[in-house]
Amino acid sequence: MGAASIVPEAGSHPIEEIAEAAPTAAAFGQLHPMGREENFVRMLKRFADAGYRGICVTCDCPTSGWRERNMRNRFEPTLEVVGGNYPPGSETSIYEVFGQLFDISAPVWPWSKLGDLMTNVSLPWFAKGIITPEDAVAAVAAGASGVLVSNHGGRQLDGVMASIDALPLIRDAVGPDVGIAVDSGIRRGSDIVTAIALGADVVVVGRLAVYGLAAAGEAGVVRTYELLRDELRTVLTLLGRGGIADLDRRAVRRVER
Ligand SMILES: Cc1cc2nc3c(=O)[nH]c(=O)nc-3n(C[C@H](O)[C@H](O)[C@H](O)COP(=O)(O)O)c2cc1C
Repeated sequence: MGAASIVPEAGSHPIEEIAEAAPTAAAFGQLHPMGREENFVRMLKRFADAGYRGICVTCDCPTSGWRERNMRNRFEPTLEVVGGNYPPGSETSIYEVFGQLFDISAPVWPWSKLGDLMTNVSLPWFAKGIITPEDAVAAVAAGASGVLVSNHGGRQLDGVMASIDALPLIRDAVGPDVGIAVDSGIRRGSDIVTAIALGADVVVVGRLAVYGLAAAGEAGVVRTYELLRDELRTVLTLLGRGGIADLDRRAVRRVER
């Protein structure tokens, strides 16, 4: 379908294996700015060596959100689910890497430290989990090429703004030349249109792809993207716009209730 992927450090398969299986799709490597610096840099270099074209640094997850449904269901991310990059005996222990997720007293890295560490590879990077204009500006000042406006699909801090509401504020703050992606709540082609109209260059889906996968495996994911594409075309036509490039803020209007 031509879509790119953000491949997580906390996955069930090594990032090298994924890049080999899907060289064009495995575009961005994702990791968390936490734990020991040498572990972070080692993972950065693994992404670079495996041919990833950029890095996504998830900044809204210094510790896991308070997920009551997971608690009620006694869900725990097992090594099988998140440990693919750190099999037993590897140089880095997975407990060391993700330990901070369960330690609310662990220090959060300042932007300057993240910016410095990112110079260990010559890949562009973007900050994910940005929801305020101030953080977007700080990420760019630290060297990010762009930001992924996201509230983590509502899984981190309850009560934060919706990505779609934060998006135009962030576009206004960083100006027209900084790349902006957006996720959280994208379910329809019309959501893509709204996001592009409000200033996004790239639109990202999380759970939507997983829903397709759960329904019908690989074919379900393909079908999900087909539906998005067809809905997108329909909405553009109904709006009287020839294509995505013809979208601007006049395509949508907020109606106060
Ligand atoms: C099961 C699950 C696991 C996730 N794991 C990660 C992760 O490891 N790193 C990350 O940056 N975001 C992670 N996310 C958040 C997604 O990257 C994305 O921000 C979110 O799902 C977007 O919202 P949506 O699901 O409404 O599209 C995860 C989301 C889900 C549902």
